[in-house]
Amino acid sequence: MNAAIRAVVRAGKHYGKKVFGIYEGYQGMIENQILELNARSVKGILNRGGTVLKSSRSEEFKTKEGRKKAYDNLMAHGIDALVVIGGNGTFTGAMYFSEEYSIPVMGLPGTIDNDLAGTDFTIGFDSACNVVVDCVDKIRDTAESHNRLFFVEVMGRDSGFIGLRSGLASGALDVVLPEEEKPQEDLISELERGASNSKTNRIIMVSEGNKMGSIYEIAETVKKLYPSWESKITILGHLQRGGAPTCTDRVLASRLGVAAVEGLIEGRQGEAIGIEQNQLSYTPFKEAISSKAKLDMELNRILKILAT
Ligand code: F6P
Repeated sequence: MNAAIRAVVRAGKHYGKKVFGIYEGYQGMIENQILELNARSVKGILNRGGTVLKSSRSEEFKTKEGRKKAYDNLMAHGIDALVVIGGNGTFTGAMYFSEEYSIPVMGLPGTIDNDLAGTDFTIGFDSACNVVVDCVDKIRDTAESHNRLFFVEVMGRDSGFIGLRSGLASGALDVVLPEEEKPQEDLISELERGASNSKTNRIIMVSEGNKMGSIYEIAETVKKLYPSWESKITILGHLQRGGAPTCTDRVLASRLGVAAVEGLIEGRQGEAIGIEQNQLSYTPFKEAISSKAKLDMELNRILKILAT
């Protein structure tokens, strides 16, 4: 997100605009936490995770009264256009706000979950996947040395993008995804296949929100069937949301941040910006929040071929 903030600020200055940073998201807009920024205000943040502007979940912005306060604060600062960064909740707020007030808003997709329609990748997704791959590479050292089976839980809320992509990239034996109604027997037969193929390090990637059950329930089921298999559980949790962003994420955020400013200057509004097949794409907020990005199950087929 910092790379996107930097891009919006610097592109704004490039085009001779005044740029303000709103701290703590929509709640900060309501509470008037608004400061003018310049090109130097965003120095040294390109390589930092998180967001220097901070983030929050605002219940008040869901009300008309809250949005009115926010609008009044923007007007008091002479702000006449807005760029928001976030996921579904952020875009929903942006849609209501831009419908109620005549202020152009553009949205940048920022979530590790990669579940937003209208973009191939969201800001943060690649960095999160790289954290997972790095962690699984390390876990594999123990798995291999001790002939252990590992269940690794990754984030994604109710989407399996992180699980599938990082599962493929880290050589997982199988993945359990929210998008699949996968019977437990399928997982068991993959594990058996791995064992009969003399696989000594078996990693199962379990996406949160999957329909098979919690990672503890899944591991317990396997343990009951094969008590001799030594298994361990690792939940990667918020590790996935921190650390320096990858090159891919920095480039994506930089492109989208500049596109948001240029879009506003060209008169665009009420749209989420993404990149599809390496081209900028614009999706009205209404459409962006009502559809969900579709997981490419072809990657699962490839994973299965390779996990022999
Ligand atoms: O939406 C991003 C995300 O990291 C999800 O993958 C995860 O389910 C959730 O947020 C965790 O939210 P919190 O930090 O509020 O526990």
